[in-house]
Amino acid sequence: MSKFDGAGAALVTGAGGSIGSAVAAALVQRGCSKLVLADISTTALEATQKHLLAGYDSGSRPLQLLLVKTDIRLEESVDALLKTAVDRFGAIHYFANCAGIMIEPAATLDTQPQDFLTLSTVNQRGTWLSVRAEVRQLLKQEREPFGAGSSRGSIVNVSSVQGLATQPGMVAFAAASHGIVGLTRSTALDYIDSGIRFNCVCPAATESAFLKSPTFQEASKDCLPAGGVNQPSEVANAIVFLLSPDASAINGVSLPVDRGWTLYHH
Ligand SMILES: NC(=O)c1ccc[n+]([C@@H]2O[C@H](COP(=O)([O-])OP(=O)(O)OC[C@H]3O[C@@H](n4cnc5c(N)ncnc54)[C@H](O)[C@@H]3O)[C@@H](O)[C@H]2O)c1
Repeated sequence: MSKFDGAGAALVTGAGGSIGSAVAAALVQRGCSKLVLADISTTALEATQKHLLAGYDSGSRPLQLLLVKTDIRLEESVDALLKTAVDRFGAIHYFANCAGIMIEPAATLDTQPQDFLTLSTVNQRGTWLSVRAEVRQLLKQEREPFGAGSSRGSIVNVSSVQGLATQPGMVAFAAASHGIVGLTRSTALDYIDSGIRFNCVCPAATESAFLKSPTFQEASKDCLPAGGVNQPSEVANAIVFLLSPDASAINGVSLPVDRGWTLYHH
């Protein structure tokens, strides 16, 4: 399993959510002890903090958690998050951008322009604003030994299988998810020699509050992955692998975490 040596600090957006909280837990499990947890919901952040502290062996190094209420739709909020994080930990090496929303499935003619805009503003533009602030910070940091070479740090975005293939009723979500795949690839090329890696994961349906929505269940009943939905920890394992030195040669990929769903969807 990928190990974090305890020296680096990590930042997770959407850390109050299913995938984000599982990423925070996976990082802690692998030795990361300095974490910035960002989310628009303070209540959700506090729940994640409670969960992490409850499972932590205080016999090892102390677990340092910084909770920052953040709205990734707002440039000033994202920039303030980075400033607060760096003021506390000096440098941040691992970034997992897990904040996002989903909306009820609807075909193009049934999708409201405002819903389309909301989804792309949070998921696509919000992820880009996060990446932009993170790159700005990482470029100020020195390269450090990492894997077989050296690195400034690593960024992993969360897209969806809807960013690689699609199914009916997903127009707004598929557009935003393809956008996240595109911005990840494009930014990886922009900073190809920088010592920063940019990857994204593309999960199929993953256990979360949204999955219980009757509209989603109806729209997806023939489109769920064979073998059932993902557990958040399974998505988190993929994210933490891509962040870690074990993935030191992997840059610009969009990794399906989907039990093979993209094999039989186009
Ligand atoms: N759960 C799935 O089936 C699934 C599948 C594929 C992709 N995704 C994507 O993965 C991401 C995380 O999903 P999840 O299942 O953990 O959802 P979740 O709702 O459990 O968690 C998302 C978190 O993001 C936070 N958030 C929402 N808007 C925000 C904003 N403007 N600024 C900061 N934080 C904000 C929420 O408060 C929440 O804690 C989302 O973008 C989602 O679209 C989820």
